[in-house]
Amino acid sequence: MKTLGEGDITKGFEKMNSMPYAEVSKLASRPVACVDCHEPNTMKLRITRPAFIEGVRNWKASQGVANYDVNTMASAQEMRSFVCGQCHVEYYFKGPEKRLTFPWHKGLKAENMYDYYTEVGHKDFTHAETGAPVLKAQHPEFEIYNQGIHARSNVACADCHMPYTRTGAMKISDHRVRSPLLNINRSCQSCHAFSEQEMKNRVEQIQTRFTESRDTAMNALMELIEDIKKAKAAGEKDADLKAAWEAQRRGQFFIDLVEAENSVGFHAPGEELRILNQAIDAIRKGQLAIPART
Ligand code: HEC
Ligand code: HEC
Ligand code: HEC
Ligand code: HEC
Repeated sequence: MKTLGEGDITKGFEKMNSMPYAEVSKLASRPVACVDCHEPNTMKLRITRPAFIEGVRNWKASQGVANYDVNTMASAQEMRSFVCGQCHVEYYFKGPEKRLTFPWHKGLKAENMYDYYTEVGHKDFTHAETGAPVLKAQHPEFEIYNQGIHARSNVACADCHMPYTRTGAMKISDHRVRSPLLNINRSCQSCHAFSEQEMKNRVEQIQTRFTESRDTAMNALMELIEDIKKAKAAGEKDADLKAAWEAQRRGQFFIDLVEAENSVGFHAPGEELRILNQAIDAIRKGQLAIPART
């Protein structure tokens, strides 16, 4: 982005957004580099990605904080999550200039992002079989994590995914960013006084509950899609399917948000089940709203 903008990252960002992927990817040698997270002279954590700088400003504005500048106003602990939020987020490409945009203008919750997309009239594609204008979630780890008990307790992404480790006399942050379950000792037991096996079991219990609820929601969504298809085949007009389409759009986006965030329900267990509940409720109401339903 710096090269494209001749030194100005935001200008380069704007140029990059409107270029085809195949052309842009020729300009980058690695997906993630030291300079994405570090100021090269001081090694201080920094945010370099314009979409996060703008996204977090919009999010803070929704909480009544004007002109938030992440690089001067975030705490050191917040930066240990914000650097990850440059990439592990939900986003879309806004307008004809295809500006990479995080839908945080109303907040980070599922409803906030959904309402934003609906207000700006965004859809990712039209569902081929039902005709519903639907959304595709990306990888919203940052937004979902922010609804959980760990975020609330000020535990950062790096605390679990980059735990401190010793090499000789040095204490450093493990830069092999990966599943914390591969290193429960350093990732979890620094705070939790339970055995590795018990910590693993706790994660598995959360993930099993999540998976079962997710499957229930996905089955409901498939049933709604089948019902809409049947109604269309029976000659139902699009104008009478609006409520069912809205249910499909909402239900699918909510399910996708928790499915596409990659912790299998761990980052915010209660919130992720709540989102699935909301999805199932919308989907079942959508089925009831199909006029030709017998
Ligand atoms: C510049 C973008 C970028 C940043 C910044 C970034 N990631 Fe990632 N992350 C990625 C990409 C791309 C992948 C690989 C996805 C794939 O292979 O499917 C990934 C993969 C991962 C994985 C899975 C690794 C595995 O073993 O499969 C974890 C966990 C992760 N990131 C956590 C983090 C955390 C925590 C931070 C902040 C300290 C962070 N990431 C910062 C882009 C980023
Ligand atoms: C309290 C600890 C904790 C915090 C904080 C945390 N995570 Fe995780 N994360 C986990 C656990 C546990 C998993 C599930 C790993 C598994 O199933 O193997 C996970 C899974 C993931 C994965 C999928 C990893 C994979 O192997 O596929 C990504 C990506 C990820 N987290 C990113 C983040 C980001 C980004 C943040 C901050 C916004 C964050 N996490 C905060 C504990 C944490
Ligand atoms: C995804 C973001 C990210 C990337 C990419 C990244 N780091 Fe880090 N790095 C961190 C975080 C988070 C810390 C902890 C800093 C803190 O708590 O203040 C850290 C800390 C450090 C530190 C301070 C000592 C320590 O380990 O705590 C050094 C040195 C460092 N990183 C070097 C590098 C180098 C060299 C690269 C590239 C090969 C790199 N980092 C890439 C996020 C990143
Ligand atoms: C920096 C400290 C810290 C780290 C690291 C940490 N936790 Fe936690 N964890 C907390 C705090 C604080 C709470 C809130 C409960 C409390 O205050 O004891 C919590 C709560 C939990 C809960 C209860 C969740 C709920 O919704 O009620 C589970 C399960 C959990 N942690 C698992 C883990 C696992 C697994 C890891 C490692 C991947 C981990 N934690 C890493 C501090 C931490």
